[in-house]
Amino acid sequence: PSEGPLSGRRVVVTAGGTREPLDPVRYLGNRSSGKQGLALAEAALAAGAQVHLIAGVMDVPAPAAQDRLTVETVETAEELHAAVESAAAAADLLLMAAAVADFRPADYAEAKIKKTDDGTDPVIHLQRNPDILATTVRRRAERGTGPTVIVGFAAETGDAENDPLDLAQAKLLRKGCELLVLNRVGRNLVFGQDDTEIHILASFGVQGLLGDADPVHVVGTKQEAAQAVVDRAAQ
Ligand code: C5P
Repeated sequence: PSEGPLSGRRVVVTAGGTREPLDPVRYLGNRSSGKQGLALAEAALAAGAQVHLIAGVMDVPAPAAQDRLTVETVETAEELHAAVESAAAAADLLLMAAAVADFRPADYAEAKIKKTDDGTDPVIHLQRNPDILATTVRRRAERGTGPTVIVGFAAETGDAENDPLDLAQAKLLRKGCELLVLNRVGRNLVFGQDDTEIHILASFGVQGLLGDADPVHVVGTKQEAAQAVVDRAAQ
């Protein structure tokens, strides 16, 4: 048996981005590299957990399965949703680091979409994807079973009116998870980089249990950030 704060615990980690097909050659994607999710899986393994990694599209190769690690690859948000749903039931901790597309093309074209002869611009209709995180929190409440700790991630740029921490606080409430990891993002910040800056916010109930209300702030490598998230979740 492994040793560590998560020994004997089952951890599900989602990593990378989703890819939403438009036609056989095109898709809508995002800039998620998968590095943070991979670092989380590694930190959970090092903490002694049994880890199931659900890997979307990543810049870094998905690791091979090993002792205490199983890996499943998915492409679309719907595939990710199905994978999370079946893995979450038996999990103690869900780390939802994947960048899930909020929208998918409403219609998949079976044949490659062609340029029109009359020069008109094509229109892509988008349809909302399910919010996997919020759904998992809701299912847990309905069934009375599911991960004890669910951790959401938020990539916020902030703007003139909104402090990213306030946006993250609102998201934590909206999603209903125990912890929310805020990533301040920008075009050349965080995505694909090795370093990051995060704040780990706890829900009101968890703040009471932990006895401290201040978000944990980490500036460092994605490995260091992952370690802080796993430590906080283990607490
Ligand atoms: O609402 P927003 O996309 O910023 O929330 C980010 C968090 O919600 C992440 O943990 C992400 O994995 C999760 N999410 C999800 N399903 C979606 C969109 C986001 O689970 N459709």
